[in-house]
Amino acid sequence: MKFLILLLVTACAASPQDLSGKMFIFPQQSTRAYVKLNTTVDSFSAATVCHRSFTDLKRDHGLFSLATSNSFNDFLIFYDYTNREMEPHVRHGKSEYGGLDYKPNVWHSICTTWDSQSGLIQLWFNGLPLTKKYVSSGSNISGRPIIILGQEQDAHGGKFDINQCFVGMMADVHMWDYVLSACEIQKYVNELNFTPGNVLNWGALDFQIMDRVLIESKQMMCV
Ligand SMILES: *[C@@H]1O[C@H](CO)[C@@H](O)[C@H](O)[C@H]1NC(C)=O
Ligand SMILES: *[C@@H]1O[C@H](CO)[C@@H](O)[C@H](O)[C@H]1NC(C)=O
Repeated sequence: MKFLILLLVTACAASPQDLSGKMFIFPQQSTRAYVKLNTTVDSFSAATVCHRSFTDLKRDHGLFSLATSNSFNDFLIFYDYTNREMEPHVRHGKSEYGGLDYKPNVWHSICTTWDSQSGLIQLWFNGLPLTKKYVSSGSNISGRPIIILGQEQDAHGGKFDINQCFVGMMADVHMWDYVLSACEIQKYVNELNFTPGNVLNWGALDFQIMDRVLIESKQMMCV
């Protein structure tokens, strides 16, 4: 039985899909529903992660969770509702971005860049570059990464907290193993032609869905 399930999972995860114009829907609070993203890159001296999300959650939630066996929060984008702060974590460091207009029920584009040489992180919130801050320098994110949308990992690939799961919609997830230029980030934000992620590419995404996560076309307004 276990063997059969393993076979099915392997078969489903095989080929990358083009999710352009689509979104993942995480429709309910749970610790079972998530999307696991696959990549072959396993050492990062720098990174940029961009995504769009839509939610009306009134509690903490994770938006992007990359764990390695070295650190469960090796690259984590987390919203702290109590303090109303977007908190990117890299390696063993964390920074806080408050004062954001993180309105419910609208799409927000969030890009996060980090470089191990300077140790600086920068959040771009809906296209606005925020303060550069020190978070972690001198070591790579390394080891087999497990990248999860919909849940926040408190272990390498598990230990999810129901009070931190994401409920809402998510789209346009990309990851690069370098710091994107300001110009490229603005192209991403404005949905123009940009260089797709070389670690994760929404246009050729290798992923596995667990439990109730749905894929639908993004809703466009009639004009
Ligand atoms: C992840 O991708 C690699 C290379 O494309 C592949 O060998 C591996 O089977 C994939 N893993 C999963 C869980 O899909
Ligand atoms: C850090 O990652 C870069 C690739 O981004 C790699 O070239 C380098 O060898 C890595 N360094 C270590 C110590 O693993």
